[in-house]
Amino acid sequence: MSQPAQEAARRRTFAIISHPDAGKTTLTEKFLLYAGALGEAGAVKAREGRRSATSDWMDMEKKRGISITSTALTFDYRGMQFNLLDTPGHRDFSEDTYRVLAAVDSVVMVLDAAKGIEPQTLKLFEVCRTRQLPVVTFVNKYDRPARPPLELLDEIEQQIGLRPTPATWPVGSAEDFAGVIDRRDGTFTRFTRTVRGSAIAPEEVISADAARASEGSRWAQAQDECELLDAVGANVERSSFLDAESTPLFVGSALTNFGVRHVLDTLVDLAPSAGERLDVNGTPRSLDDGCSAFVFKVQANMDKSHRDRIAFVRICSGAFERGMVLTCHRTEKPFATKYASQVFGAERTTVEEAFPGDVVGLVNAADLQIGDSLYVGSPVEFPPIPRFAPEVFASARPFDTSKYKQFRKGLEQLDSEGVVQVLRDPQQGDANPVLAAVGQLQFEVFASRLEIEFNAPSEIMPSPYESIRFTDEASAERLKEIGGIRILRRRDGRLVALFESRYRLQRIETDEPDLMLDPISVG
Ligand code: G4P
Repeated sequence: MSQPAQEAARRRTFAIISHPDAGKTTLTEKFLLYAGALGEAGAVKAREGRRSATSDWMDMEKKRGISITSTALTFDYRGMQFNLLDTPGHRDFSEDTYRVLAAVDSVVMVLDAAKGIEPQTLKLFEVCRTRQLPVVTFVNKYDRPARPPLELLDEIEQQIGLRPTPATWPVGSAEDFAGVIDRRDGTFTRFTRTVRGSAIAPEEVISADAARASEGSRWAQAQDECELLDAVGANVERSSFLDAESTPLFVGSALTNFGVRHVLDTLVDLAPSAGERLDVNGTPRSLDDGCSAFVFKVQANMDKSHRDRIAFVRICSGAFERGMVLTCHRTEKPFATKYASQVFGAERTTVEEAFPGDVVGLVNAADLQIGDSLYVGSPVEFPPIPRFAPEVFASARPFDTSKYKQFRKGLEQLDSEGVVQVLRDPQQGDANPVLAAVGQLQFEVFASRLEIEFNAPSEIMPSPYESIRFTDEASAERLKEIGGIRILRRRDGRLVALFESRYRLQRIETDEPDLMLDPISVG
């Protein structure tokens, strides 16, 4: 095997998705602890606290307890290199979260055992499904009162249409949570609590017979439940997991480190490595081909003193070496990768080489945009990163009208970066644009960057729109005659109709079925 193929085979590039507070940060920290990358749990948070206010992003992150700037955490475990891509875990939701999922090979979904599936998890899961991403499920917080595990399985299957296949099953719960049965070999892993899980939980793997003797009634109950699972054949299956039809499910408690190792081991044993990526025509790019990558995130002005713009790319094939000159497929221009780094919070480390599955931050990437494909050797274009149906809308204007030029420049730039979508009136150009986004956070980032980078402090006001549809010129003429609708144009030239009332949209769809009103769906 060539070096890129060998390195790709030991990459596990994944993201953790969860509803805020389900335990994503805690689990991340415990992964690092188990991988030996952290001396003591708690350091991830401590590290966040240490982030000095070197950039406005970090100020905003600190204020709101969110993560906008981090990209990938890299650690080794059992000979594999894990690249854990950061997804903002805040209630506010942005397109960045979706885009990160375009760059990973699998996902760990964390659920709170007392709550189950919550709206945000559902939304993120939709994206996993459209991208056919394999999902490992971790049901967290079993050290506290939880919902009956069988009920949670039902909920997962009903709500997200993914067949849960429990790999481990809890023995006891809350204070009585003693450990997990590994359904694959019948063994019992008994855990011992450490103070807030600050060290790896001492665990003892014992046989089913020994567990029956020591665990009494809680063992008997867990056994009964496992028999039920056996009867319905809910067994872990690699092929349906890889096809995103079933999800290996683990139970545990990230806080006390229970069950964390099982998840990491599964990522090693079952999760896909960085495989060949399909190009825009559906042809796989061989891992041994020249280096190729695509941009999934662009971040400007991460550090005020640098005023830089970093394009985060996922390497898809070949070996990346710092200094190599890549070609951008869209512009056909060369891009010299003199500065390449990994970014985590305020910390940056220079990357000298990288392989398929890795994430590299290309500094000084003024000309690169989200979705751009880069390559050396034979040209390649990867599929565009999908845009998502906006759910919130706003209008914007500069506080100071003399700053209109700067405002327009910012509008153009931030639209091209995908910070928000700018919808323009075909007749009015840049006047009265509507900003569209997946979450409010995108508007805040937009306003902050207009002020800091473009010197155009602006007023962002909520717009009354509730729904958006694609339309065409003929239908637009008719829609203009109806009140409460605005026809605007996206950057890519497509016409969209915004509706002040969902109800009115429904009426029009029913009454005038010939009008083109196509939903903007994920895809
Ligand atoms: P998030 O990144 O998904 O938003 O969640 P995070 O890990 O920050 O966890 C949210 C809260 O849940 C934290 O408590 C954390 O300690 C707690 N938690 C995480 N995993 C477990 C678990 O397995 N069991 C229990 N009982 N609690 C868990 P907090 O009070 O908000 O923060 P802290 O003061 O404990 O740091």
